[in-house]
Amino acid sequence: MTKILGFLLLVSGVALAQAPTAQAPTLKPVGTVDDLMIGIIWPISDEVFYITTRETPKTEEEWLHFQGRMLMLAESANLLMMPGRAWDNDKWMKDSQRLYDAGSAAYKAAKARDLDKIASLSDAMYAACVGCHNDYRPNYRKRPLTPEPVPEQ
Ligand code: HEC
Repeated sequence: MTKILGFLLLVSGVALAQAPTAQAPTLKPVGTVDDLMIGIIWPISDEVFYITTRETPKTEEEWLHFQGRMLMLAESANLLMMPGRAWDNDKWMKDSQRLYDAGSAAYKAAKARDLDKIASLSDAMYAACVGCHNDYRPNYRKRPLTPEPVPEQ
């Protein structure tokens, strides 16, 4: 039974592959993973981590700006997963998914102007960073934890 199913899937897969569907556009990464971290993911996640202590949006204009930043953060998870940039098709995807989930929730909460909700997402967001760094950053444990603030001297 499994064999038959597998065969059917194979056949329909071939048929689909040959159908004259529009070709997916070729994605062309501009920056490296490191560039995304430094330019987008690190600074924007900081806006979540410090939402109540540093950069609380107040005016409607600030909220709109913040909302856009959360959208960028959530979408950056897709950028990490895109072919040509993802480091593998395994744990990398799961680690990126956690950033996607936390980022999407933050975007939703930003649209609802729900400050408490955003603050409560801090832990999940942080776990997403640390999870992937543990898996993929060489010498990660030798470096100070990002984005934990460096202790005052
Ligand atoms: C899917 C994996 C993944 C996720 C999720 C992830 N990172 Fe990274 N991050 C990496 C990798 C891999 C590197 C090292 C890149 C390299 O050396 O080329 C890195 C490097 C960094 C760096 C170091 C940049 C430098 O050059 O010193 C910072 C800062 C950083 N990440 C912040 C974050 C923060 C903050 C989050 C969560 C909001 C996060 N990262 C989530 C994979 C991830």
